[in-house]
Amino acid sequence: MDTLYEDVAKLMIERKRCVALTGAGVSAESGISTFRSRGGLWEKYDPAVYASIEVFRRDPSKYWSIRGDFIRDYDSYQPNNAHLALAELEKMGILQSVVTQNIDGLHTKAGSKRVIEVHGTIREINCLKCRKQYIAPHVPEGTPPYCESCGGVLKPNTVLFGEQLPPDALMNAQNESLICNVMLVIGTSANVYPAAALPELALQHGAAIVEVNIERAFPSVDYYLGEKAGTALPKLVDEIRKQSSYSIS
Ligand code: APR
Repeated sequence: MDTLYEDVAKLMIERKRCVALTGAGVSAESGISTFRSRGGLWEKYDPAVYASIEVFRRDPSKYWSIRGDFIRDYDSYQPNNAHLALAELEKMGILQSVVTQNIDGLHTKAGSKRVIEVHGTIREINCLKCRKQYIAPHVPEGTPPYCESCGGVLKPNTVLFGEQLPPDALMNAQNESLICNVMLVIGTSANVYPAAALPELALQHGAAIVEVNIERAFPSVDYYLGEKAGTALPKLVDEIRKQSSYSIS
């Protein structure tokens, strides 16, 4: 095993209190499109038109035309080895929580218990008029779909550009960033605030930052694991297991 993984494993075992901040890159190997890396969603569609609350209020068909299938295929997406490795790290008592920008629910499907969804979730879809809630993938047909009870427009419980983040989720994410000793920043281009400010918060409070990404998003971090998350994270789990067994015996 190369010393880089040995060093990161040692750091995580010694410092404990690790938190993961994840972005679309952690779900790429589950077949879910990222936003800004090659072939990403925002290369094809302008988020100001297709993912802003201002346009959604005027013309919800724009958003639903690019996200309707994703929501109706919700059950078909499965966690990959990266999600499973993070759930394993939580079970091992190394990882305290996962703060995710992703709306796909795959960390929870992988078995992670403490997941903070700062950009909400596509799993819950609400009627904007009568607040009736639908659960993905059970959403009426149509682009956009309308509420079966009152005919109102349906909107997933996700944060569109121009919307506030769920206050509780943001507060919890900021707390985790303040008290963690290590932050794993995985598969995010760190372009969208306030989530992108969380690593800085962690750094200010003395945490070590470990980036896992196929291209660097941060100019300087303590460690950079430049492999796919589905490769890097299982390798990290194996190394932590190996070192922990040494330290236990
Ligand atoms: N393993 C690790 N990293 C990967 C992988 C992979 N298999 N595939 C892609 N990446 C990296 C890319 O290099 C890129 O840095 O994942 C990152 C994905 O960046 P974005 O597409 O910008 O996604 P994200 O950072 O999550 O976007 C943040 O922007 O549009 C909003 O609400 C949306 O939550 C999203 C937010």
